[in-house]
Amino acid sequence: MTTTEGAARGKVILFGEHAVVYGVPAIAVGIERGARARAEAIATGPSTLRVRDWNMKVREDDPETPLARAFGDLLRVTREAGVSVSAVSVEAESDLPPGGGLGCSAALGVAVARALDPEASPEVIADRAGAWEAVFHGNASGVDAAVASLGGCVLFERGGPTERSTITRVRAPGVVHLCIGNSGEASSTRSMVEAVARLRARRPETTQKAFDAIHTLVKNARLAIEAADRNAVGQLLDLNQMLLSGLFVSTPEIEQMCSAARAAGALGAKLTGAGGGGCVVALVDHADAGAKVLAAWKSDGFDGFLTTFGAPETARRGPSFIESAP
Ligand code: MEV
Repeated sequence: MTTTEGAARGKVILFGEHAVVYGVPAIAVGIERGARARAEAIATGPSTLRVRDWNMKVREDDPETPLARAFGDLLRVTREAGVSVSAVSVEAESDLPPGGGLGCSAALGVAVARALDPEASPEVIADRAGAWEAVFHGNASGVDAAVASLGGCVLFERGGPTERSTITRVRAPGVVHLCIGNSGEASSTRSMVEAVARLRARRPETTQKAFDAIHTLVKNARLAIEAADRNAVGQLLDLNQMLLSGLFVSTPEIEQMCSAARAAGALGAKLTGAGGGGCVVALVDHADAGAKVLAAWKSDGFDGFLTTFGAPETARRGPSFIESAP
């Protein structure tokens, strides 16, 4: 019996969420937590997918549940690409909070896509996972799937209807420490993206001004990350949070967590992902400073963890997640 496996990263968007849907570049980082999938050939179809932590098992031919439709679409695009996938039983699991803004659904989609076709390039896998993401998120920019598949720190720019998205590596010369905290409220990326679309329809000029400001900020953030200018990156995180609040995607809990992180010594903090709940990211100078932020969140009742990206050895080796998959 043939068994194949796939793994994928969770992601943290440092700059540019929401604006990225409208063509503004975003900077995002793959984190150690992610998803894993195992596909086993079975004698007869239909193919099935079980997502352990969602406690769900679906069949590819079931149109009723979004997970089944996402799985069916992923199988279809994989087969259309000429990969011979007959009947499979897939088991998947993730250690990311669903609705937490850390790319749980994209990581699962990428892990399953890779288990179906372990030989495909990370870019091809990210493209195929787009079919899965479309079911869960509607008008997804593709940034989550790209980072889930490629890992590392990337500048992602959505392509037009007939163009491919572009993904450029952002090299952080030293280790960058991030605290990730969960506001405890799950949110739906689809409904937050739809809320911003409604705001854009109602107030096109104000929304465009916010997107333009985010665009400038992303360009500066890339330079600051590459120059290892932590203070500048922190200030830009704070500015991005202000602009996201202006798009009405922040919440009182997110604002509380950002303030608590800054008061505990973080260089900057913002929501990450779609907002409306989910997670906050805070930049700190080193792991000890991160422990203080995590303690401040804990005393307010919020869970969190520390993660890192960038390192000289990563830059030399090339930050392909496949080499260091969880
Ligand atoms: C969600 O992780 C990020 C959003 O920008 C949506 C997307 O890019 O697809 C809110």
